[in-house]
Amino acid sequence: MKILGIESSCDETAAAVVEDGSSLLGNAVATSMALHAQYGGVIPEIAARSHIESIIPVIKEALGQAKCNWQDIDGIAVTYGAGLSGSLLVGVMSARSLAITHKKPLYAVNHVEGHVYANFLTKTSLPGYTLPAEQPKFPLLALIVSGGHSQLVLFRDHFDYTLLGQTHDDAIGEAFDKVAKVLGLPYPGGPSIGAKALEGDPLAYQFPKAKMQEPYDFSFSGIKTAVLRAVQKECGQDHTFPSFKLAELLSEPQKANFAASFQRVAIETVVDKTIKAFQEFLPASVVIAGGVAASPELRRQLSERLPCPITYTDPKLCTDNGAMIATLGCYQAMHKRPLADPYKLAIEPNLSM
Ligand code: KG4
Ligand code: ZN
Repeated sequence: MKILGIESSCDETAAAVVEDGSSLLGNAVATSMALHAQYGGVIPEIAARSHIESIIPVIKEALGQAKCNWQDIDGIAVTYGAGLSGSLLVGVMSARSLAITHKKPLYAVNHVEGHVYANFLTKTSLPGYTLPAEQPKFPLLALIVSGGHSQLVLFRDHFDYTLLGQTHDDAIGEAFDKVAKVLGLPYPGGPSIGAKALEGDPLAYQFPKAKMQEPYDFSFSGIKTAVLRAVQKECGQDHTFPSFKLAELLSEPQKANFAASFQRVAIETVVDKTIKAFQEFLPASVVIAGGVAASPELRRQLSERLPCPITYTDPKLCTDNGAMIATLGCYQAMHKRPLADPYKLAIEPNLSM
């Protein structure tokens, strides 16, 4: 069972070929990140235009790496939500056209659910990937932390899951991106804050953790504002001073202390709740998924505090990619889930789990 996965929900144009839900045969990603970096965040129109230019070369590249031609492909899986409308449209319309032309079954994949499935890949002959030796087992606790989502999900089996909690406002990745902007660090904020934090003191500032009514819900807008207020105070400025000019007033050691202190508390917040969920539901496996799952600090804190062994997938499979979409597509095919209509499949920008 070989599935071609197509992903274009944000600023990565990605395609991959996965066999039997465990083996990565080809994985290609083109990113328009550099085009957005100068604006400090993704510009939807630029992302959509860039997907149009990249999608066909990226699909060809993934098929080439997998040494597959169209006869070898058993189905096409595509992200239909959540994401940016213009971006999603490019992937979905490409997948629909290819499914019709090559007479392949089409599977519609939820992007956030897809992130979790990156953890099911255990084999590849492609160079440069470190994959876990074994697949996660059910019941499976998944911490999904990306630029658009922060949630804890308990999977009893494939396609049988409960959302334990989610963010009420900003996603954790969004908070990293916004704090990076205040500190004058480049987009995306996760990796740039992580790198700067290595030079700083994680205990220099005490930022608050949001107290939520529901035990597994998150909120990251408070800590984002707390960092902004602390930076203003450190610079001797108030809220009337333009926030994009604050970074010029900070020294490099000050930036490092803010980055390290923010990162410690933001990551602690998601780790606290993952440990709590582990104690309540006693899952057989725990996985982390989404762009922030690439964070070495998250991996360090979780491995240190979780009372069971945990393995992590390659960081390249945490940020948006086609492999996670192809993997979930394989499980849809193997479990005979309903097919999408290649003449009708519509995007769902606000799709939830
Ligand atoms: O999953 P993803 O690629 O796209 C969404 O579905 O949102 O996640 C992007 C987010 C960004 O907020 C980025 O700052 C964060 O993931 N990120 C990281 C790292 N790499 C990307 N955060 C922490 N550490 C990283 N190494
Ligand atoms: Zn994502």
